[in-house]
Amino acid sequence: MPKNLSGRNFLKLLDFTGVEIEYLLELSADLKGKKRAGIKGDNLSGKNIALLFEKPSTRTRCAFVVAANDEGGQTEFLGKGDIQLGKKETVKDTARVLGRYFDGIQFRGFSHETVEILGDHAGVPVWNGLTDRYHPTQVLADLMTVRENFGYLKGINFVYTGDGRNNMANSLMIGCALLGVNYTICSPEELWPEDELMEKARKLAEVSNCTLNLSDDPVQGVKNADVLYTDVWVSMGEEEQFADRIRLLKPFQVNQEMIDNTGKEEVIFLHCLPAYHNRETENGEKIYQEHALAEMEVTDRVFESKYSRVFDQAENRMHTIKAVMVATLT
Ligand code: CP
Ligand code: NVA
Repeated sequence: MPKNLSGRNFLKLLDFTGVEIEYLLELSADLKGKKRAGIKGDNLSGKNIALLFEKPSTRTRCAFVVAANDEGGQTEFLGKGDIQLGKKETVKDTARVLGRYFDGIQFRGFSHETVEILGDHAGVPVWNGLTDRYHPTQVLADLMTVRENFGYLKGINFVYTGDGRNNMANSLMIGCALLGVNYTICSPEELWPEDELMEKARKLAEVSNCTLNLSDDPVQGVKNADVLYTDVWVSMGEEEQFADRIRLLKPFQVNQEMIDNTGKEEVIFLHCLPAYHNRETENGEKIYQEHALAEMEVTDRVFESKYSRVFDQAENRMHTIKAVMVATLT
């Protein structure tokens, strides 16, 4: 049944019901089908969209641009050095100005508080394209990919391994709890999510009738996983923590042994990307020189294996972001 999300912000999954997230996933699948069939949309015709980025991006930025173009909308990219946001002009004032020009605003940056302030004062829908705390549009693409692969979501065993309290781990926990997906964080105790967020997720999981577990055991913790998910060990803005994270997370690397330990031949591997899976990047080589580690959170073998769905997942960023814009702007 269509849900009316018109005029709503998309800042964090906690602001939505499971039914609303389901609706966005259905709309994403519908828009993906249309794109595949070469059917051009006009749902965003005449809409001007601002894309504010304090941090770099490949997928999120390009997904917003292509999704808007596909539906007849126009985008304007505003990078860190381009506007006064928070430097010479408050976030609140910037929100009130941009809201007079644009029909929708995407923000990617550091503090989650910034996107909440934009959302409170812009007067037009604001979408969170990643903050230090949450990455909700990514989770829509992740859940879409899981459903495409297995045909259903409820009852799937989803294991997230790595930095268990970053924006991805937080958002996946809420997304899974809303949709009845059993969720385990498999990481050292130092990196488990905050109690307060866990408590919120536990309440949602009770309603959707799924489990929520924490494990610090990289062998037992991944048992029976249908989905193995990891993210970078060091998120944007935390670069000074490489040595510490490598020490903590080395046993939690997704490698063939971990895949085997799930005990499931049909397990799939997901990663929001970008991923450190070889030495073929400047940073990958630097990490190798400084820490003698050629692969970090996932081995090249698993990344390139039959288990990996990472490029389907990356494609789905575009279809799900399109759904968020269409649902909130029309
Ligand atoms: N996954 C993701 O958000 O990628 P980008 O940082 O390239 O946008
Ligand atoms: N946790 C990562 C996600 C990147 C898409 C980061 O914030 O850098």
